[in-house]
Amino acid sequence: MTPPLYASAVEAIGNTPLVELSRLTRGLEGRILAKLEYLNPGYSKKDRIARQIVEDAEADGSLQPGQTVVELTSGNTGTGLAIVCGIKGYPFVAVMSRGNSVERRRMMAALGAQVVLVDQLPDSKPGQVSGGDLALVEQEAQRITLERGAFRADQFHLAGNFRAHYLHTGPEFLQQSGGEIDAFCDFAGTGGSFAGCAAAFKEYNPAICCFLVEPEGAAALAGEPVTYPNHRIQGGGYSMSHLPLLRPENIDGYLQVSDTQAVQVSRRLAREEGIFAGFSAGANTAAAVRLLQTDFQGKTIAVMMCDSGLKYLSTDLWE
Ligand SMILES: Cc1ncc(COP(=O)(O)O)c(C=O)c1O
Repeated sequence: MTPPLYASAVEAIGNTPLVELSRLTRGLEGRILAKLEYLNPGYSKKDRIARQIVEDAEADGSLQPGQTVVELTSGNTGTGLAIVCGIKGYPFVAVMSRGNSVERRRMMAALGAQVVLVDQLPDSKPGQVSGGDLALVEQEAQRITLERGAFRADQFHLAGNFRAHYLHTGPEFLQQSGGEIDAFCDFAGTGGSFAGCAAAFKEYNPAICCFLVEPEGAAALAGEPVTYPNHRIQGGGYSMSHLPLLRPENIDGYLQVSDTQAVQVSRRLAREEGIFAGFSAGANTAAAVRLLQTDFQGKTIAVMMCDSGLKYLSTDLWE
């Protein structure tokens, strides 16, 4: 179906293609279906939540015309908010750790955001943003929100993050796959994508198994000790043992992926499937491959290609 003419880029958010990874799964029994979220206007799935959070806040009156919007971001939510706020006329302040890649900061600024960078903890490394680094970003976001009388587009708590995926991403997966999904695995940052999609999947068919993906050595949600908080899988794995948006009853299990596995599979996605995505897409796919090799042989696994590989050109993701 040819997409219609849209009134703005905000309306071009969502309805991303679903692609079967038939080259990467050669020799394995079963299918991996990958949703190309990097084809959103801001090149990530977080455009979806930016739109939902802002539109929910407009609807319930918590965001007033012209009011400043503030959010803590690893870059992708900020890019989505920069697009949505720019089009709808809200000044936007993105508060981000200096540890996130430079492409993200430049892109948000280009889209009209004011970008505030927060230094990492003394023993943290660029490209490896830990839960401790994120706590510093949170403090600064709270301070700026108060100072500016702003609306905090709080992605860790606001239902819009859940709703974007519950109302749209999950149902799109189901529609595009003809409902043929046996399992879903998703690398958690805020857990919004997991929570929203899992709720939509379980409502459709409670037998769809939903697995949370975490970095090896930082699997706090699985209740494991955190020995490696400074992993390289950008966008999540913040070593938080509780994420407010997650519904425990929809979690069927936990999978862990190492930096090396995430990087190797991201590179395979690019070379073998023509899918140029980031670290977390590699993590999701690595987890899906493991499911096909174990309990889900012959089954269909759904995953998200969360953001574009272009966001990591300055990192060593690409050789
Ligand atoms: C690249 C990337 N992958 C994964 C995630 C995690 O998604 P969620 O916050 O929905 O758990 C994010 C979140 O910012 C992200 O930017």
